[in-house]
Amino acid sequence: MYSVIKQVHVMAVVFTAALFLLRGIWMIVDSPQLERGWVKVAPHVIDTLLLLSALALVFMIQQYPFVNGWLTAKVLGLLLYIILGMVALHYGKTKGVRVLAWLSAWLVFIYIVSVAVLKTPWLWF
Ligand code: HEM
Repeated sequence: MYSVIKQVHVMAVVFTAALFLLRGIWMIVDSPQLERGWVKVAPHVIDTLLLLSALALVFMIQQYPFVNGWLTAKVLGLLLYIILGMVALHYGKTKGVRVLAWLSAWLVFIYIVSVAVLKTPWLWF
């Protein structure tokens, strides 16, 4: 069961990244695709799946954010990723700000994946 939920979690990670890549490219080229219905709905569905599977996993391994450092880092990283994503795709006033926020969000995303795999907040240390 655990491995199934983990697979769901990792699938959600791949889909959320693919969509964020696509939406970022559409943002950069000012594509009207960004306004399509499914493009607005899909991220919420995928991100809900991502969070629900994350919750299920933490209960199954009995390790929790604000108790176990690597999970704290994931939650804080996720918050930062969400905020940067909102600036990149919605609130950024200029293209420069949006692109910078989008690129920063990717750095945070890579950090979160590294924390997930290494199970430590400390990257290469
Ligand atoms: C953008 C957000 C996230 C990304 C990119 C992400 C990525 C990943 C990846 C790639 C794995 C597989 C690691 C491996 O196979 O070694 C994983 C596992 C896991 N993630 Fe996430 N995750 C995210 C959010 C979260 C959150 C918010 C939590 C919990 C608060 C969480 C909890 C877990 C747990 C418990 C595992 C299983 C660890 C294991 O058994 O190896 N994840 N995550």
